[in-house]
Amino acid sequence: MNAKLAVVTGASSGIGAATARALLDDGWEVIIGARRTHLLEQIPAQAHYLDVTDDASVAEFASHVQRCDLLVNNAGGALGLDSIADANLADWQTMYDTNVLGTLRVTRALLPALQAAQGLIVNISSVAGLYPYAGGSGYNAAKFGVTALNKVMRIEFAEHDLRITEINPGRVHTDFSTVRFKGDEQKAAAVYADKLNLTAADIAEAIRWVAAQPPHVNIDRMIITPRDQVF
Ligand SMILES: NC(=O)c1ccc[n+]([C@@H]2O[C@H](COP(=O)([O-])OP(=O)(O)OC[C@H]3O[C@@H](n4cnc5c(N)ncnc54)[C@H](OP(=O)(O)O)[C@@H]3O)[C@@H](O)[C@H]2O)c1
Repeated sequence: MNAKLAVVTGASSGIGAATARALLDDGWEVIIGARRTHLLEQIPAQAHYLDVTDDASVAEFASHVQRCDLLVNNAGGALGLDSIADANLADWQTMYDTNVLGTLRVTRALLPALQAAQGLIVNISSVAGLYPYAGGSGYNAAKFGVTALNKVMRIEFAEHDLRITEINPGRVHTDFSTVRFKGDEQKAAAVYADKLNLTAADIAEAIRWVAAQPPHVNIDRMIITPRDQVF
C-alpha cells in the first residue's frame, strides 16, 4: 500500500518544518509549500513554491496534489503589536489574507483531493484565536477568524467524512516574533527571555499524534501552552 499523503503549508521554518519532518519520520509522503523555497529544500519532501495569499500560486501548488489524507493549514503569523488606536491597516490586511483567506484558499483547492481520501484537516490557530490581549487586535481578529472557519469546516465537512482539528499553540520559540517585529531581533528575543517556551517539535508531536488516530476519531481542539503561560 502507498504511504499516506500529507500537505503542510508554511513548512519553510518553525512549526511547519518540524511537522513535515515528524510526518516523514512516521512514514508519510509529504508535500510542502512556502515562499522561501531555498529553506524547503532542506527537508526531504516534495517541495513547491506557495504563497497562500495568491490564488494563482495556490492553484499551481494544488495541481501537484491528487490525493490528500492530511492537510496542515499552518502558513500564517502576526505583524505588529499596535494598539487599536495605532492599528496599521496594511498589517491587518496581510494577517487576514494569510491566516484566514490563506486557509480558505488552500482548503478549497485541495477539497477534491481531501474528499477522495476521506482526509483530515489540521488548522493551526493560536491561543490568540481564543484569548484577546492588548496590542493583539489584528492577530486576534485573524486567528479568531481561523477558529470560526475551523468550526464551520467541522459542521460542513462532516457529511463528506472529513475530520477537522484545530490546534491552539501558546508561546512557541520560532521565527514568529522576528516576523511580527519585522526583523527586530531584540524585541523578538524579549518575548522568549526568562520564560518556558514550547518548541516547534512540541506542536509537531501533537499534529503527528492527531494524524495517527483511527478514522472514526475526531480531535476537535488541542490547546497547548508552556507550563508558565496561563489564561
Ligand atoms: N510561534 C508561536 O508562538 C505561535 C503560537 C500560536 C500559533 N502560531 C501559528 O503557527 C503557525 C506557524 O508559525 P511559526 O511559529 O512556525 O512561525 P514561522 O517560523 O515564522 O513560520 C511561519 C511559516 O508560515 C509561512 N508563511 C507566511 N506567510 C506565507 C504565505 N503568504 N504563503 C505561504 N507561506 C507563508 C512562512 O513561510 P515563508 O515566509 O517562506 O512563505 C513560514 O514557513 C502560524 O500560523 C502562526 O500564526 C505560532
